[in-house]
Amino acid sequence: MTQHVQAAPTQSADSSNPKALYGGKGTRRITVRDITLAKERGEKWPMLTAYDAMTASVFDEAGIPVMLVGDSAGNCHLGYETTVPVTLDQLTMLSAAVVRGTSRALIVGDLPFGSYQEGPTQALRSAMQLVKEAGVGAVKLEGGERSHAQIKLLVEAGIPVMAHIGLTPQSVNTQGYRVQGRGEEAAQQLLRDAKSVQDAGAFAVVLELVPAELAAEVTRTLHIPTVGIGAGPETDAQVLVWTDALGLTGGKMPRFVKQYADLRTVMSDAAKAFAEDVVGGTFPQEEHSVH
Ligand code: KIV
Repeated sequence: MTQHVQAAPTQSADSSNPKALYGGKGTRRITVRDITLAKERGEKWPMLTAYDAMTASVFDEAGIPVMLVGDSAGNCHLGYETTVPVTLDQLTMLSAAVVRGTSRALIVGDLPFGSYQEGPTQALRSAMQLVKEAGVGAVKLEGGERSHAQIKLLVEAGIPVMAHIGLTPQSVNTQGYRVQGRGEEAAQQLLRDAKSVQDAGAFAVVLELVPAELAAEVTRTLHIPTVGIGAGPETDAQVLVWTDALGLTGGKMPRFVKQYADLRTVMSDAAKAFAEDVVGGTFPQEEHSVH
């Protein structure tokens, strides 16, 4: 049988710490307080996206402590070209499935484009939907200073917020898909954005596609954890889109993706094997039949 999983990295789970987010002994649902304590301990943690109950249950059993029902579902699950068309109702349905499929991971539901840009009141209404109808433990939204008021109101209302700065894919039509924070002025803006979301009460902040040195500086400056994607090795956590990390997404991957499996080949081979069995009359056999 082909071995598709790559060798494990040298550093592994901290099994000596029963409270560790990954590799610890805890079985109850992880909370944002656990995330805060992990930063105080200097502990790194992994986050993967998930869009359905079954995949989420695999990651939960593997010990992934935080899952994001990202609007990347637009590209990776719903067949859109960007995240822009994704709706709040779609993410509510997917988030509810991920919550149902898991018992330990903190589930973060993404607020899609158009569900919070009108202002704090719209953001609160949208976040309430994700919390009440899907059961997520936190929400994520894009933007630094420009989303300060939204984050503040959500946190005051009791909804934990993960912020997202750097490359913000919902702004593809103005920003494109380019590295953010290059050059002195852009770096200063990124630092202002990071401090602004922390001051507003965000419990963590995603840094997407920013220079590694700048991400390291933000991580040293903030007391909340940074979650990197294309932001180098020095952030507190790392997130990958699961279909990229496990090799289900087709085509060329961005440089920051590490592919840990080749599910596209595994699934294609299995589908062909099934088709050949059917065409050749070797499936079903007696053991698959009832009388
Ligand atoms: O929607 C998403 O999956 C994201 C991650 C890439 C951080 O925002």
